[in-house]
Amino acid sequence: RYIVQIASECAPVIKAGGLGDVVYGLSRELENRGNCVELILPMYDCMRYDHIWGLHDAYKDLGVPWYGGEIKCDVFCGWVHGRLCFFIQPKSQDQFFNRGYVYGGNDDPMRFAFFSKAAMEFLLKSNKRPDIIHCHDWQTGLIPVMLYEMYQYYGMERQRVCYTIHNFRHQGSCGNEILEATGLNRPEYYFHYDRLRDNFNPFALNLMKGGIVYSNYVNTVSPHHAWEARFTDVGYGLGHTLEIHRNKFSGILNGVDYKLWNPESDELIPSQYDLNNMAGKAKNKKALREKLLLQDSEKPVIAYIGRLDEQKGVHLVHHAIYYALQRNAQFVLLGSGTSTEVNNRFLHEKYFLNENPDVHLEIGFNEELAHLIYAGADMMVVPSNFEPCGLTQLISLKYGTVPIVRGVGGLLSTVFDRDYDQDHAPEKRNGYVFYQQDNKALESAMERAIGLYYEYPKEFKQLAQQGMECDYSWKSAGSQYINIYEHIKNIKYEF
Ligand code: GLC
Repeated sequence: RYIVQIASECAPVIKAGGLGDVVYGLSRELENRGNCVELILPMYDCMRYDHIWGLHDAYKDLGVPWYGGEIKCDVFCGWVHGRLCFFIQPKSQDQFFNRGYVYGGNDDPMRFAFFSKAAMEFLLKSNKRPDIIHCHDWQTGLIPVMLYEMYQYYGMERQRVCYTIHNFRHQGSCGNEILEATGLNRPEYYFHYDRLRDNFNPFALNLMKGGIVYSNYVNTVSPHHAWEARFTDVGYGLGHTLEIHRNKFSGILNGVDYKLWNPESDELIPSQYDLNNMAGKAKNKKALREKLLLQDSEKPVIAYIGRLDEQKGVHLVHHAIYYALQRNAQFVLLGSGTSTEVNNRFLHEKYFLNENPDVHLEIGFNEELAHLIYAGADMMVVPSNFEPCGLTQLISLKYGTVPIVRGVGGLLSTVFDRDYDQDHAPEKRNGYVFYQQDNKALESAMERAIGLYYEYPKEFKQLAQQGMECDYSWKSAGSQYINIYEHIKNIKYEF
């Protein structure tokens, strides 16, 4: 099979969140299975160019129709750790991707609509005819719309689209001038509730909705989130659309790249370890304490790694710090807020807690420290408000760090409560789950984890090892996506 992935991020060259890791990890898995995979990305100025090998031009002066005129683009090509990537750079509107950021402009929908249009023109004019076009998130939601409504008449009638939604919170809601820009010239037709009109805001166009309606298959990144998105408010208004299109919608759990995240081979941690030899984990705990100037003691180390924002349950993260201290545990935090207000709050806390030898708050991001925390901590809290899949709990499990999570989305699909899970035998359980989004619920789960650590250390270790036995590699996701590709390859494209 020939598969082209089109997205706004791909780790490690350009990554704002989990999307980048998934686009990279999935491409690698698909290649390992013998498929030909190529990626199309915007050419941002803020990419990590040191991770691109052999960058050269692939297509000069690609004319991209835009508002009845044309914008010329250059397309570059290079390898990102062995994956073949094409980067699209508009020549005249170069402020689109030369702004020092990936997202954050008022005109983001316009920027990514342009990228989508340019990606289609590139496929068309360079005669690329992939079997499958795999698009991700709202940024590429217009691709299936344009493919079905125009490009199939230019000789792309055999291409099929799989559309993966990583976050329903951001849907690319915008004004309908985008239709005119891209050449979708029947506003009364597209700007309709059956198609791209936003379900909440009658004046807005919704790019993600277009992706759902026009793709041959749609999925989100865990089975539980697929259910939630249809039936609860975490679909952020798209539940009804998903309900209509339910026959082509499901949840596929993301994998973790065990080449990067594996305590047996991790070169960023001082002592490697595995299931049968956990001594290294204790050494890493010691190294972590030394590095962060925490006092040496019998106490468990509880960690949080991630963004500090509403999605991640920032209030509960804050509470977890204090509750850990109160319950005789240590706490380590690595992350940063998306607003200065939140950062200041944690920085103030940091100042306030500075003298306490049981806490370390690191505001910012540091890859190496992240590895040491996964390897050295005993528990990881993930109190998300919503979480389509989540990567932290999966990495924690691999490192024998017991996850304490809120039972939502991908967290509920991957962490099984030691005491209460009904669906898994005791030897398959791997962490702690709480449900209510309040301090008391978080406390009860932390209490059970800390209690086990102190009172039944053998059982605690056993629980950590059960986590390490779970396989959340890309294997299973890879075969599920292949099944979908096979399934859509031969169906007739009509709505
Ligand atoms: C988004 C989601 C996260 C998911 C990631 C990759 O960032 O918030 O839960 O793991 O996408 O799919």
